[in-house]
This record gives sequence, structure tokens and C-alpha cells, in this order.
Amino acid sequence: MKNIAVLVSGGGTNLQALIDAENSGIIKSGKINLVISNNPDAYALERAKNAGIKALVCNKKELGASFEDELIKALEENKTDVIVLAGFMCILSEKFTSHFANRIINVHPALIPSFCGKGFYGLHVHEAALEYGVKVTGATVHFVNEIPDGGKIIMQKAVEIKAGDTPEILQRRVMEEAEWKILPLSLEKVCSEM
Ligand code: GAR
Repeated sequence: MKNIAVLVSGGGTNLQALIDAENSGIIKSGKINLVISNNPDAYALERAKNAGIKALVCNKKELGASFEDELIKALEENKTDVIVLAGFMCILSEKFTSHFANRIINVHPALIPSFCGKGFYGLHVHEAALEYGVKVTGATVHFVNEIPDGGKIIMQKAVEIKAGDTPEILQRRVMEEAEWKILPLSLEKVCSEM
């Protein structure tokens, strides 16, 4: 069984999908034993507590230059094997990503290499897709390296864009039809192959 840490910043619906997938047996090669948020007000922290999972805050604003050192310390103390970035809105340095090479995965709400990289996060991704006028978008789960959204792709799923979509409506559809499905499946794949 791999020890899984999930890094979050906000609502934590992807974290919830992982917790549910562990409970239903979709994730069977690992166990979430740590959730870390950079944002003390993230609802994801409540989701962790409700599921009985240890939850910590590493406040980037307060920690400044020692932010990543604190993350590494917490991850090592909890013997983390696999790190999931699930709506984690901080870009990690090469020092961090190489420390955990091939052990960090991220979910991105578009079909990489479209609408990805610096500045493309959260709702901005869906705004950009609608503005461009693409007819299909989706989600990607990939390994994390020093290039934002640049690591090897693990899974992707396409989602249709419909007339009248707003960024919020599209975000919800991408989550429901793609993110919440491929993130648990990718995590199980990574844990089972490690
Ligand atoms: C999700 O759509 C996730 O893919 C995206 O933020 C949302 C977080 O929602 N992540 C990024 O844009 C990272 N570049 P959640 O907190 O409800 O899981």
C-alpha cells in the first residue's frame, strides 16, 4: 500500500472524488494519509477532516522562501510515496519536483497541450477554451516535472462544449465527466505500477 498525500487549495471536489474512490475500492493500491493546503480557508480541509484524514496547512504567504522545505518535511514525516496535486494552485520549483520525480501527479482541466502552462488554472482555463471557440475540451492527468503542465501524460478524457456554456457550467461538466473519473483511475494506476 502506497501512502498518498493530496495537495489542495480550494473546494476540494477532486479530493472528494479520491476519498470516494478509496471507499468504493477503485483505489486499492494506496491510502490517502495526508492532505496539505496552502490556503487556510480551503473547504478541502473540511473534507479531509470529515473523512478522518490528517490535514495540514502550509501557508505560502506566511512561509515565503521556506514554503517548499516545509512541504517536503511534512511529506517525509508522513512517509509519502505518491503526491496528488488536486486543485493545488501553486507552481512547484525544480528542486521540489526532482525530489519527488515520477511520484507527483496533477489534474489539469483541459486537453494538454491546449490551454495549459503558466496562468492557465481554475476557471481561467475554461474562459480561454470558450474564448478560442473550441468544440471539445476535457481533462488531463499527468506527471509533474519542472515545466508547468509539461510532464508525461497518464490519462485524458474529452468533454463536449455546448452552446450557451459559461466558464462555470463548462468547469462543472469537465469535473463531472472527466476529472473526477480519470484522477482516481490514474492514481490507482500509478500506485499499482510503482
Ligand atoms: C479543478 O478543475 C482542477 O482541475 C483545477 O482547479 C480545479 C480545482 O477544483 N486545477 C488547476 O487548474 C491546476 N492547474 P477542486 O478544488 O474542486 O478539486
